[in-house]
Amino acid sequence: MSTSAPAAEVPAFGPQTLIEPLPAPLHGEARVPGDKSISHRAVLFAAMAEGTSRLSGVLDSQDVRSSIGAVRALGADAQLDVQPDGSLAGTVTGWGAAGPAQPDGPIDCGNSGTTARLLMGVLAPWPVTVELTGDESLQRRPMRRITAPLMKMGARFEPAGRETLPLTETGNARLRAIDYDAPMASAQLKTAVLLAGVFAEGTTTLREPAPSRNHTELMLPEFGVPTTAAARLASVTGPAALTAADVVVPGDPSSAAFPVCAALLRPGSRLTVENVSLSPARIGFVRTLERMGADVAVRHEGQEGKEPRGAISVAYTDVLRGCEVPAQHIASLVDEVPVLSLVAARARGVTVFKDVSELRVKETDRLAAIIDGLALLGVDAWTAGDDLCIEGTPSLVVPEGLVFDSLGDHRLAMTWALVGLTGRVPVTVRDFGCVAVSYPNFLTDMERLAK
Ligand code: S3P
Repeated sequence: MSTSAPAAEVPAFGPQTLIEPLPAPLHGEARVPGDKSISHRAVLFAAMAEGTSRLSGVLDSQDVRSSIGAVRALGADAQLDVQPDGSLAGTVTGWGAAGPAQPDGPIDCGNSGTTARLLMGVLAPWPVTVELTGDESLQRRPMRRITAPLMKMGARFEPAGRETLPLTETGNARLRAIDYDAPMASAQLKTAVLLAGVFAEGTTTLREPAPSRNHTELMLPEFGVPTTAAARLASVTGPAALTAADVVVPGDPSSAAFPVCAALLRPGSRLTVENVSLSPARIGFVRTLERMGADVAVRHEGQEGKEPRGAISVAYTDVLRGCEVPAQHIASLVDEVPVLSLVAARARGVTVFKDVSELRVKETDRLAAIIDGLALLGVDAWTAGDDLCIEGTPSLVVPEGLVFDSLGDHRLAMTWALVGLTGRVPVTVRDFGCVAVSYPNFLTDMERLAK
């Protein structure tokens, strides 16, 4: 089946989904779909490269399909098919030195901030004019963090000074290398600047206030472009060119966080998530759970390309303690704050996530959504400046008949679903179908773990 068809076996969900308690504790071995960040990069880098790349383990989700659709519209030949395990595999023949083709119309990035922001860097060095747009959520998300440095390098965006999509980008074949101090720790920003920097004359360097995920720095050399990376600095020297590579995508730690946290919420559970990326820039949630006293461990099993890979094991732990998560660690668990908040809600004492202002500009305002959702559970959570504080309530009893609103945000949908799955009473989640953005088979995978 080609990726132009809807993803195989994805269950359809109505406007309200009743999530029933799992019949037994979670146990056994879990597998989660391919890493979303690495999948986007594999597709985009292969499209930029000269020659034919072979990709496997690619996440089949709406977000990654947005990237696949975008590179096809720009002239790459992506032949990716759904595999028996639900992943995508196949080939991508890139545009290489010819550059991307002028697309027929706007490129719709759907819900995918990664697609939109990384594409801005991909397009910056080429003489094309491309309108980028997205769904309602993506059209609310800030883009100036990307357009500002790319404009310094020589790309143009119209309407000038506009913060949100739709934006029309015109690339520039004579990009200038820059030395840039990023205002926030964002791998999307870092990647956009580095991808443009590949084609600029000289060394482009980006410094960040805290280390963000480094998949780009690790994968670009696989495509023949050396990068320099230190704790809070990444650079690339251009002009250079990408050549085709083979990429095997490991499982997504951000998806693994759901069964791991579910096991900490449902007494008697014990499970291992196999074959996930163990990038230290991504498994901050494991470190946080350890500090809360959870029985959780990682086992390194080698590498996929330059990405460390292995297993995460967890067992239900009776007493968890609240903890403070320092600002420097937030980027390593930024997408896991909603589900960690649910674990913090049953810990003893207060948990504080320092400086989580970035959560306000994710697929939804996740800071407000976490506080509202925990309030339905009777758990007190509040902000103090940009910090999120949660008063743990170990004696928590989930009331009957709760209705959570996912607000169309996949990570919120899965977080609130865990309340029903791991509890004693069902809950309703509005617009649960948005899980297809990152983890289409979330519910069936969770049910399988309790059989
Ligand atoms: C991503 C980086 C993070 C993360 C997002 C994926 C990436 O965003 O929240 O889900 O693939 O680079 P920011 O870079 O904006 O923090």
